[in-house]
Amino acid sequence: MSRKILVTSALPYANGSIHLGHLVEYIQTDIWARFQKMRGHSCVYCCADDTHGTPIMLRAEKEGITPEQLIDRVWHEHKRDFDGFHVDFDNYYSTHSKETRHYADTIYTRLKEAGLIEIRSIEQYYDPVKEMFLPDRFIKGECPKCHAKDQYGDNCEACGAAYQPTDLIEPYSAVSGAKPVRKSSDHHFFKLSDPRCADFLKAWIADPKHVQTEAANKLGEWLQAGLSDWDISRDAPYFGFEIPDEFGKSTGKYYYVWLDAPIGYMGSFQNYCDKNGLDFDEYWKPDSEAELYHFIGKDILYFHALFWPAELAHAGFRTPTGVFCHGFLTVNGTKMSKSRGTFITAESYLNHLNPEWLRYYYAAKLNGSMEDIDLNLEDFAARVNSDLVGKYVNIASRCAGFISKRFEGKLGASDTGATAEFFAAFAKGEIAQSYEDRDYGRALREIMRLADVANQYIAEKQPWTMAKQEGREAELHEVCSTAMTLFRDLTLYLKPVLPKLAEQVEAFLNIPPLTWTDTWTPLPAGHAIKEYQHLMTRIDPKKIDTMVEENKQSLAPTPDPAPVKHAEHQQNEAKAAAASPWEPFINIDDFTKVDLRIVRIANAEHVEGADKLLKLTLDLGGETRTVFAGIKAAYAPETLVGRLTVMVANLAPRKMKFGMSEGMVLAASDERGGPFLLSPDSGAQPGMRIK
Ligand code: MSP
Ligand code: ZN
Repeated sequence: MSRKILVTSALPYANGSIHLGHLVEYIQTDIWARFQKMRGHSCVYCCADDTHGTPIMLRAEKEGITPEQLIDRVWHEHKRDFDGFHVDFDNYYSTHSKETRHYADTIYTRLKEAGLIEIRSIEQYYDPVKEMFLPDRFIKGECPKCHAKDQYGDNCEACGAAYQPTDLIEPYSAVSGAKPVRKSSDHHFFKLSDPRCADFLKAWIADPKHVQTEAANKLGEWLQAGLSDWDISRDAPYFGFEIPDEFGKSTGKYYYVWLDAPIGYMGSFQNYCDKNGLDFDEYWKPDSEAELYHFIGKDILYFHALFWPAELAHAGFRTPTGVFCHGFLTVNGTKMSKSRGTFITAESYLNHLNPEWLRYYYAAKLNGSMEDIDLNLEDFAARVNSDLVGKYVNIASRCAGFISKRFEGKLGASDTGATAEFFAAFAKGEIAQSYEDRDYGRALREIMRLADVANQYIAEKQPWTMAKQEGREAELHEVCSTAMTLFRDLTLYLKPVLPKLAEQVEAFLNIPPLTWTDTWTPLPAGHAIKEYQHLMTRIDPKKIDTMVEENKQSLAPTPDPAPVKHAEHQQNEAKAAAASPWEPFINIDDFTKVDLRIVRIANAEHVEGADKLLKLTLDLGGETRTVFAGIKAAYAPETLVGRLTVMVANLAPRKMKFGMSEGMVLAASDERGGPFLLSPDSGAQPGMRIK
């Protein structure tokens, strides 16, 4: 039975370039949508640029253009990049559209009618020079915990502490530099705390079709902690849609970008319906039989699996059939980094490398879970070269020539013994199931196993030997014809991942576009194929190096504030992904200012009432210091006494709740674990300077 499917990828922000991280998602979705279409289902893939919000408004201002001009330019850049990677949207639109405005107003009004909108006055930081309220990311100041300067208003990149912008010491506006003042204004809230929302969401996430188990767990934690009402309005100046009052009059309040962003899915689809004569309501009415799937990254789960279904359910629309969440991209095992050249833009990749190589590699790594996926550049080259060139293309390149040279381009009968495995694979349908489950890695492993079978057959038969021997024409014809059929089958299976290559193969084999089939039939005897043209080259690792070099940027970060996109709960995670992990360069004088010393831990003890801290007494070779260190989770105090470690001896003493802390011990940590204290090699003595 043919299904009706609407699928989306998250809408990329209209103020940045598409990079290889984004492409995990668009490639993942594109493969799935292409697969569904090959299966004969109706599948519409919609997306759009996410165009509203303060960062876009300010970026346009900085460039001296209007926001409309900015989003128009970026739309074309994004579209060019997606086309370059063969991401085949049925509609690529913009949230700055009449359709999105219409549905934003509809949803807002219906939520209001349902009693789920409340207006409350809140106090926020306001830039008196720029005359605007400041989002957290546009307020900077000194971290209240570790006193690092120039930290953002929501969390500290030096110590990782999360706080309110009002906690910052000496805050200043990142827009004008002015000292912000507190000012109150009315905000519109979506009352997520209403029991109707919580009850609905509890039931919604309990259905395993809606979200993956890992996501359900995370969402369960958030629900457990209790949902706060969601602030969905922003004050002028703002680039977005103004919220109308009951009489359609202006209010000076705008929908927060995250309110209208998912509604952009509806806007894009409405626009598609208008162009293609489809009925929007068929897809979006509450009892719709159409399926609706959103592909998203794990950083925006909160918005898609809590806010969004709650909004839809209480505004008279259907809710998603499934929210498919993926992990984040790492390159060579770590976050993408501008300094290392691994923050690679789509554009720069396309200047050097073939898009289908990346599609293949991502597909091989994707398994439908929320785990992060790693692009290891060495493995990337090795994998593509061995699988695609060495195994797959090799089948055609070794056998096609004989067909054109010896048999006038016409195929003979196929060898049914050799095709039995393929026959069975079609019958089992496991490859289709793997695609359906978004376990593309599993699908490709099975396809490569079949490629091995085909290669083994060719290696055993040795058509190149047959070609040199008298009287083996018929055998040669059969082997090469069989190889062409097997090559076609592999192409069919690979087509969702490698659509352009598949097109070339269809032309070469002189067959209509391949669609999915569950029954196996060989190419018929007498079928004429075209002359074989080279299909795919190997990856030259030098080209990867050149690309990485090209993406290397100076270590000094340009502090362009990232858009505010994350719910409080996830802010740390997201920020970590967005920012470069490296500190800007310092000179040697800056470094010498830090007085690092070897110390012996003379005593270590628990601190009454502190759940993270240990109180350390440090011996610097005569002098002692007291330091409170946040290492209680990792070390029992008695194991520390007597060992040597490293401290910052000239950190200004700081009064803490439990007493004066006179310095800091150093320890390593990140998401992989820690804190881990440092130890010097033997011979080092307390008080020695580290330089
Ligand atoms: N504009 C919002 C989404 C609104 S959807 C109604 C947004 N934009 S984004 O440009 O930051 O990200 C777009 C998508 O790309 C998100 O799903 C995000 O998770 C994904 N990715 C962005 N960087 C990524 C990686 N480094 N790795 C994997 N996916 C990443 O969020
Ligand atoms: Zn800090």
